[in-house]
Amino acid sequence: MKIFLDTANMDEIRAGSRLGVISGVTTNPSLIAREGRDFIEVVREIASIVEGPVSAEAVRKDAAGIVDEAVELARIHPGVVVKIPVTGPGLEAVSELTRRGVRTNVTLVFSANQALLAALAGATYVSPFIGRIDDTGADGMRVLEETLEIFERYRFGTEVIAASIRHPLHVTQAALLGSHIATVPFGVLMQMLGHPLTDNGIAKFDADWAKVTKG
Ligand code: E4P
Repeated sequence: MKIFLDTANMDEIRAGSRLGVISGVTTNPSLIAREGRDFIEVVREIASIVEGPVSAEAVRKDAAGIVDEAVELARIHPGVVVKIPVTGPGLEAVSELTRRGVRTNVTLVFSANQALLAALAGATYVSPFIGRIDDTGADGMRVLEETLEIFERYRFGTEVIAASIRHPLHVTQAALLGSHIATVPFGVLMQMLGHPLTDNGIAKFDADWAKVTKG
């Protein structure tokens, strides 16, 4: 399973990239707004740092408008993938963009049926929002599991991005289910890396090594 970073923060993207474990970045209008910078500039800068797909979201609501916006976004950098919410006009736009060779990430997916429709429209990626499904009292992982099973059974080429990841267990569960990708906030990436026993182990080895080197 590949890991994408779910952020528009340049420090986090640089730090994540240096680890060599990040294969792409996803953004959304809320993440971009948090940075208080020009959208196009942010997307261009992310694409210059990260080798791999960078999702940038289209905000127009009509199919023709989404297509125009997507074509503009895709021109920013060859790595740009256009994120499109799973609505009627959104799917219409995805079908047209697929015909034109523009890569898409169908977002705000909350059910396996929405994911199925996105795949049929030719989406490159589909993003079930695990954490937000859990927030409603339903089981986000079950939606991911159903989506993966359907895609596998019908051999869809669409890749599944486990999104709205809230904690490291979500990442482990997504990996065990065979998700192609999980997009994680920087904080979750750090939680995945850290373990108190690793810190304690290093401290103990350092203390013992200091005894050897003193003698
Ligand atoms: C995915 O691409 C979205 O940007 C993101 O995962 C949304 O997560 P949230 O529910 O934590 O806002």
